Amino acid sequence: MDILSLALLLPLVAALDFSYHRTKELEAFLKAVYKNHASITHLYSVGKSVEGRDLWVLALGRFPTQHKIGIPEFKYVANMHGDEAVGRELLLHLIDFLVTSDQHDPVITKLIDSTRIHIIPSMNPDGFEAVTAFSCNPPAGRYNANKKDLNRNFPDAFIKNNPKVQPETRALMDWMKNEMFVLSANLHGGSLVASYPFDNGNSLTITPNDESKTLDNDVFEHLARIYSTNHATMHEGSACQNGEYFLDGITNGYRWYQVEGGMQDYNYIWGQCFEITVEVSCCKFPQQDELSSFWNDNKAALIEYIKQVHLGVKGRVLDKNGEPIPGAIVEAVDRRHICPYKTNRNGEYYLLLLPGTYTLNATAPGSRSLLRKMHIPNGIGNFSALTYDFIFPELHTRGEPGSCPTKPLYSSNDHRSMSTTLSTAISSLILINIFYAVIR
Ligand SMILES: *[C@@H]1O[C@H](CO)[C@@H](O)[C@H](O)[C@H]1NC(C)=O
Ligand SMILES: *[C@@H]1O[C@H](CO)[C@@H](O)[C@H](O)[C@H]1NC(C)=O
Ligand SMILES: [Zn+2]
Repeated sequence: MDILSLALLLPLVAALDFSYHRTKELEAFLKAVYKNHASITHLYSVGKSVEGRDLWVLALGRFPTQHKIGIPEFKYVANMHGDEAVGRELLLHLIDFLVTSDQHDPVITKLIDSTRIHIIPSMNPDGFEAVTAFSCNPPAGRYNANKKDLNRNFPDAFIKNNPKVQPETRALMDWMKNEMFVLSANLHGGSLVASYPFDNGNSLTITPNDESKTLDNDVFEHLARIYSTNHATMHEGSACQNGEYFLDGITNGYRWYQVEGGMQDYNYIWGQCFEITVEVSCCKFPQQDELSSFWNDNKAALIEYIKQVHLGVKGRVLDKNGEPIPGAIVEAVDRRHICPYKTNRNGEYYLLLLPGTYTLNATAPGSRSLLRKMHIPNGIGNFSALTYDFIFPELHTRGEPGSCPTKPLYSSNDHRSMSTTLSTAISSLILINIFYAVIR
């Protein structure tokens, strides 16, 4: 066979290459995926950047255009800091891998059957376009076009940070309001570690060893560890060889350094979504010939992490006629969230919990609570959380689905705590300036 006829046997759409994809190329790739895999993908934009670039999302699932009852919504976000470019390319390769593995790889097929996966390769396309050369610490590109750090731009629960919310931030906040995301990860660069909430805190959350912990800390440590242990080297904890060491390749965000107005705390507190922040490369914008090894290092971790959306328990809250009750609070006893997690318009709830015995507490608006003790198995192998529906004996009572207070929730509770927080903040700021470049 001669060269020409060999070439004709190649697929019409060339495989995604290992190079950086500028905005135009990224858009062309996403549109080609959408065109060639229309039955399992949906391409949409959640808004525009300051300079008018679309914030594209590729959704994958058996029903890619709409939420289906019982199918949890998952998301990956990358390139929030425009100069941290590895995550952006990883997500393009993840998309390529998922669409080409569906109906060939049984695990990926089940994952797409059971999950709706939303992928936003770049939250800050303007920042990415502002980078002019490969560099481990590019002089430009971190911020959006208004020179704002998007990972400091969300409302903070612990202080009144009054951010001037940027279009990119607003787009993600609105997106979270419209979809009931259960699990998420935000990919950054500049280190190699999986960090989990809280990024900020006060005396109610900060422990004596300087971590700021949620009541779901066991779940968050598990999630971070799933990423680090399925990654080629992250779990070793010192892969960047810069003096930093993270036991098992994970860290509490606050313990590493305090971040105000960060996206992961916002997701957990106001988005009802568990999000971790993963640093995927020691170098923020490495040479292109390293991209294929980054993909090999992260591929298993990216897949295993998505599966975790099937931890715990899910179901609906219904009245005695089987009508859904939106706005019902469903939480595990002893794990009340700062802003209660509520059912959506279908009466659905999703709670990420490690296997064990829990008492769930469902409270419909205007009704007393229903308590239900249950054993929750590990649903990962099954691609399904345990399913349990609460049935209220009364008729339909309507609440506000997913509505939460918008003011900072912990601030001014206690003056002493605020000053402690402040002094910790100041000392960690000094530490950052001496030892770290700003990363997440
Ligand atoms: C159940 O949840 C409701 C609403 O959050 C709360 O008022 C009540 O105290 C909770 N009950 C228990 C036993 O935790
Ligand atoms: C797996 O899922 C099925 C159907 O949802 C359920 O009947 C079964 O109990 C699950 N098994 C485990 C171990 O969770
Ligand atoms: Zn970052």
